Amino acid sequence: MENRFLVRLKIADLKKIVIAIDGYSACGKSSTAKQVASRLGYTFIDSGGMYRAVTLYLLNRGADIKDLNNVEDHLNHVSIDFVDESILLNGENVDLEIRSREVNENVSEVSAISAVRRKMVRQQQEIGLNKGVVMDGRDIGTVVFPDAELKVFMTAEMEIRAVRRQKELSTKGIDEPLESIMKNLQDRDLVDSTRVDSPLKMAEDAIEIDTTNITLEEQVVQVVALAKEKINEN
Ligand code: CDP
Repeated sequence: MENRFLVRLKIADLKKIVIAIDGYSACGKSSTAKQVASRLGYTFIDSGGMYRAVTLYLLNRGADIKDLNNVEDHLNHVSIDFVDESILLNGENVDLEIRSREVNENVSEVSAISAVRRKMVRQQQEIGLNKGVVMDGRDIGTVVFPDAELKVFMTAEMEIRAVRRQKELSTKGIDEPLESIMKNLQDRDLVDSTRVDSPLKMAEDAIEIDTTNITLEEQVVQVVALAKEKINEN
């Protein structure tokens, strides 16, 4: 226990880096990013949660997502904060609501809107100014932090991703059939990787990790090891 504490202190003394974790839906990006951040004493930011929160806001207001001017007006009233790894939408904790089926079904369309992306990316870049950040998403290594010291791109087979997502949702009290989860992951991957603004793609200098046959702990250990290499280089 003491040793762990000392290791953390030592890491905290070192120069901080930015770690970008991108990839397809439900490959384990957020779970990995969260643990890596905790082991390095870094801040974890789930950028997908921000797009989900905007989507929730628009849905709650009954906004027409196709009306871009209307979406821009609504955006002026959206404020997103992270407190103790919970996400707040205009001061209200929305950790659970942003995982709903309705949000899943609309978030990729909302995320394709440039005005939405501009607002989210600005906030994400501000958070990363002081480094010491692990951020996961779709465009973190390509657009948000193109100079991130460590970029990871996660992949996994579709079936395993759907099974993992089903389990994760069920721990939050949300029960969804496997087929509908799989369909949503496929739909989102397609929209996310074919949109015009900041499509999901692997950065040229990213390191790919296929998580199909490894455990969460193994993913975390791999990324922490890569991070330590980069920290020592910097
Ligand atoms: O957890 P999961 O991988 O299923 O998705 P997420 O990270 O919560 O992201 C939800 C959605 O937000 C994605 O399907 C993208 O449409 C969008 N997103 C994005 O456009 N850019 C990001 N940096 C992160 C998420």
